[in-house]
Amino acid sequence: MSSESIETVANAMVADGKGILAIDESSPTIKKRFDSIGAECSEENRRAYRELLIGGEGINEFISGMILYDETIRQSAADGTPFPQLLASRGIMPGIKVDGGAKDLAGHSGEKVTEGLDGLRDRLAEYRELGAPFAKWRAVITIGGGIPSRGCISANAHALARYAALCQEAGIVPMVEPEVLLEGDHSIERCYEVTEATLRAVFGALYDQRVVLEGTILKASMVLSGNRAAKRAGVEEVAERTLACLTNSVPAALPGVVFLSGGQTPVEATAHLNAMNAMASTLPWKLSFSYSRALQEPALKTWNGDAANGKAAQAALYHRAKLNSAASLGRYSESMEKAA
Ligand code: 13P
Repeated sequence: MSSESIETVANAMVADGKGILAIDESSPTIKKRFDSIGAECSEENRRAYRELLIGGEGINEFISGMILYDETIRQSAADGTPFPQLLASRGIMPGIKVDGGAKDLAGHSGEKVTEGLDGLRDRLAEYRELGAPFAKWRAVITIGGGIPSRGCISANAHALARYAALCQEAGIVPMVEPEVLLEGDHSIERCYEVTEATLRAVFGALYDQRVVLEGTILKASMVLSGNRAAKRAGVEEVAERTLACLTNSVPAALPGVVFLSGGQTPVEATAHLNAMNAMASTLPWKLSFSYSRALQEPALKTWNGDAANGKAAQAALYHRAKLNSAASLGRYSESMEKAA
């Protein structure tokens, strides 16, 4: 169990050249991923796949922490070492997803609110005993005709802030994730507006709930055109608008912002992160990654449900992690994609 201060842990999460690997898919979500490669979604297969991701040689050069799911934090490697201990022994912090998922928001057609505050204090105490120095809560904001509503943004901001305060009370760094979804035909300008309104509401709520920003990490979505937009913005524009949105709404006291990938391809997610770090000479916070799909996709496909492909899958993950590490320093170039 980590006894370091939340400020120390938060800074370590975004240490130079490092980011987070999210392997915290809920059981229904990991089933979707396994279905995509035709692998059976058994508990043993989930364990074996997660062991492969955790155990890759050299990955700790680029990954400061991994976010686990409730089932995963209780599982062990084939040799019996519990996953949290295995991660800690490799210098990787074991984080934990603690939200209860996004549910329909009453009175708000098409909108969601994330549940899971009831009993959270006790669950956090248990996760800390299990060795988790940081936790994650994901809220989702949907862009569509007439949405998001103020009610949806404020309900999610409030829940995020209540969760963050409970984490800090337990000595756990909250990773606060308000995800503005990529799905839709909206413009990048509309995504900017919604992301800015969401972030301002979230930081207002964090202030109200007395959350210490120095011990908090923001997991943000990038400012992007909707995935079905007629004309989609290119890499430079995404980087410029995302940076403008963050500098307008994220306090300087925060140690770091890490991005989710949200349905971008692995190469897009890396190129966008790199462009931001390459174009900004000074920023108040670190800008890094906390990708799930954009880091795992090549490894998942290479594994293909077959233990014989384990080493090759680990090599695929190593490669993506290395490129994203370079992007977090603004040192990635497309030519590095081929140098596997
Ligand atoms: P993606 O990078 O696949 O969007 O997942 C990020 C996430 O929120 C999982 O924690």
